[in-house]
Amino acid sequence: MKEKIAFVTGANKGIGYGIAKHLGLSGWKVIIGARDEKRAESAISELKQEGVNVLGWVNLELRSIDSIEQAAKEIANKYAGLTLLVNNAGIPGNMGVDSLHTELSDIKETLDVNFVGTFALTKALMPLLTKNEGRIMNVTVPSEISPYWHPLAYVASKAAQNAMMGVMAIECQQSNTPLEVFSVHPGPTTTDLNGNMSLPGFHDIETVGKKMAELINDGKNHQGEFIELYPIVKED
Ligand SMILES: NC(=O)c1ccc[n+]([C@@H]2O[C@H](COP(=O)([O-])OP(=O)(O)OC[C@H]3O[C@@H](n4cnc5c(N)ncnc54)[C@H](OP(=O)(O)O)[C@@H]3O)[C@@H](O)[C@H]2O)c1
Repeated sequence: MKEKIAFVTGANKGIGYGIAKHLGLSGWKVIIGARDEKRAESAISELKQEGVNVLGWVNLELRSIDSIEQAAKEIANKYAGLTLLVNNAGIPGNMGVDSLHTELSDIKETLDVNFVGTFALTKALMPLLTKNEGRIMNVTVPSEISPYWHPLAYVASKAAQNAMMGVMAIECQQSNTPLEVFSVHPGPTTTDLNGNMSLPGFHDIETVGKKMAELINDGKNHQGEFIELYPIVKED
């Protein structure tokens, strides 16, 4: 029987916290990815009160390759039974500007966290996850550009993350590598990322975290899938 040990990045708050909580409540042991000790410890204390088996926290700053490599080493040493990586940590970039007014620094920073750092971490943990026949779940948004909402830095970084998932899934299939890679769009969720916006159609981290954990626990193979947590129903 495979171990159920998950590393959730950005788990000190928001959707990552919700995922860690509901994975924990469904029998997973969780490792919290965070970049600040106080925020990590405060989340761990709340999760433990909820009855979650938290193995510990790992310091992870996705803008720093050193931090990523250190985090991957620590996980391999302390938590060699890791079977699930949830790439959840992310930033919005400046969502209030059109492409003409988007700063290069904003494009670079958003890509650095949401794509480059996320890729570096995934790459560093792939050997361990493959050995354990594990899975990688990416928390993201669709690559298609919506006419209603299209902040360039954010959507470009997430499209790159989606490409990473697609490429890795095909490579795993073609080489019979026992590693499953897929992505989930949680839909609009009220968190700090969007200034805690709460419009009709927005969800809370409890509901989203629970649905994400259900997806992980559904016993299906999701290799290469892009899953809408709240499927869009198209009218005829
Ligand atoms: N909210 C939505 O409507 C929505 C919709 C679709 C997809 N998503 C995706 O869901 C994921 C979680 O977002 P959220 O809404 O839960 O946002 P959030 O509440 O702002 O949480 C983001 C998490 O990422 C961490 N993080 C940010 N920058 C980091 C860095 N440089 N290195 C390491 N960790 C970093 C944050 O840590 P700190 O607390 O230290 O900043 C925090 O734990 C993101 O990938 C986002 O793109 C969100």
